[in-house]
Amino acid sequence: MIDRNRSEAEFTLDPPADRDFRRGGTAELVDSLRDFLGRDLGRVERTIEQSISGDPRYSASFRQAGAMGGKRLRPMLVLLSARATTESINVRHQQELAQIAASVELVHAASLVHDDVLDEADMRRHQPTARAKLGNRRAILLGDYLFTRAYALAAQCRSTLPARQIAAAASSLCIGELSQGDASGDWTISQANYRRMLVQKTGSLCGTACRLGAWLVGADRQLQRSVGRFGVLLGLAFQIYDDWLDYWGEAPHVGKTLGTDLKQAKATLPILRYLSEASPEACGELREILDSPAPDQFDRVLAVLNTSDAEQYTLETAKRLSDRAASMLRILPDTEAKQFLVALSHYATNRSR
Ligand code: FPP
Ligand code: MG
Repeated sequence: MIDRNRSEAEFTLDPPADRDFRRGGTAELVDSLRDFLGRDLGRVERTIEQSISGDPRYSASFRQAGAMGGKRLRPMLVLLSARATTESINVRHQQELAQIAASVELVHAASLVHDDVLDEADMRRHQPTARAKLGNRRAILLGDYLFTRAYALAAQCRSTLPARQIAAAASSLCIGELSQGDASGDWTISQANYRRMLVQKTGSLCGTACRLGAWLVGADRQLQRSVGRFGVLLGLAFQIYDDWLDYWGEAPHVGKTLGTDLKQAKATLPILRYLSEASPEACGELREILDSPAPDQFDRVLAVLNTSDAEQYTLETAKRLSDRAASMLRILPDTEAKQFLVALSHYATNRSR
């Protein structure tokens, strides 16, 4: 049996070669974004750091387990959406953008700390998860703490709108996760239902990040709506690709525990596609494997999926959604920030992690 969750040190393969970031190269895109957003991103990092440094006994755990090591995709969405929808960003804008970008990142970090408890996952971002280091009980409190810090930051803005929208996105995250948990073991859910859960789980926070970036710099409503839709579709594409990685990714590259969707009996797109296309007998065979957890369950399910177009369909669906996301940006003026947003939409479905 192939153990896709073996530690990174056991593998000698290099990550896939990076390409020109405009065509989806991972490391180059993140580096170029860091250059482009330079000081703004530095302000976000300092805001995160300050907001989790309240108690010296725990700040190291918060830093390691919760807030560090991510790609900062959501803060980048806030900052890029601001730059793509205005010509000038003043000092007040800069401060509020940093607070909102940090707030969104902390909601994301909190949700992942909790998610790893739910998924019993021990590796994320190439590091042991909070629950692996601290145990489930403390990881839950750590996630709660990060979430309250996020809300405190959002509440510092001149208007209550960012805090209300971030709270709404966080509620949506919880509802999405609850619905997916409640649907565990139900292999008959529709693709529309699956997508709705993903929009709640991942799309809503990305959409909120983009919309708030535009709102903070005073962009008109149409631009706010367009970048908001872009963010939702980007999040959806990102999560479908994530569901593909959960079956076909390799843990040393992806940097987190894989195969958790099947362990949690989540009906994700590869399974839904197979069950919608296969003959009743073939569906029955897969259902039998799905309903009887065994040590070789993952390999057996993968072998069945690989006899069909489930993998290709999942990838194509994610790519189609990322193209649709990019098309939402058509009404924006041509700027470097817009080009980076388009590049991020390609990255969502072309990444190794
Ligand atoms: C990752 O999904 C999980 C999410 C995007 C959302 C999880 C939300 C919660 C646990 C609710 C708690 C929320 C707050 C604000 C405290 P995944 O398991 O499919 O992806 P993964 O492979 O990255 O783990
Ligand atoms: Mg998970």
